[in-house]
Amino acid sequence: MARESLPDPERRKVLRNLWKAGAVILALEAGWTSYDFVRPRRAAGFGEMVDVGAEKDLMETLGDRRVLYSLAGRCYVTKVEGKLYALYQKCPHLGCKVPFCESSGWFECPCHGSRFNRKGEWLAGPAPKGMWRFPLEVRDGRVLVDTGKPIDGPPQGVRTVDQPPLGPHCS
Ligand code: FES
Repeated sequence: MARESLPDPERRKVLRNLWKAGAVILALEAGWTSYDFVRPRRAAGFGEMVDVGAEKDLMETLGDRRVLYSLAGRCYVTKVEGKLYALYQKCPHLGCKVPFCESSGWFECPCHGSRFNRKGEWLAGPAPKGMWRFPLEVRDGRVLVDTGKPIDGPPQGVRTVDQPPLGPHCS
């Protein structure tokens, strides 16, 4: 059976269109590759599971005067009696950010003077309860804080550790 072929002008038109389609596909792929290369990658942030570091490092470095602050998690990680805690930075009184005072070893709110120990338990001031906590877990040696699930701090009067001030207060 004889093969039918397109007349010359028709064949040229088909080839031209194939070339154009190929060029468009190549341009799209190049554009996507460039975009994929430069687009910002979203890191886990507040409200999500935040990686705050290697468990081994945290267990070795955190102590009475040393806590870890996580900007992404808006929380502090502390170690008390060999256990890690993640405390939300927001004061349970009126919401100021509560800094850690290295000299006293307490969390001391500069706004109205509430104070908390390294487990976030209320020690003094107008805050009605201790600092909120976040659940944390260890996965493959990394400590992950679930900043989407704040847990109410313990009420005033609950004190499960004895942490007298180590030195002068900051505020
Ligand atoms: Fe912290 Fe008032 S906001 S004591």
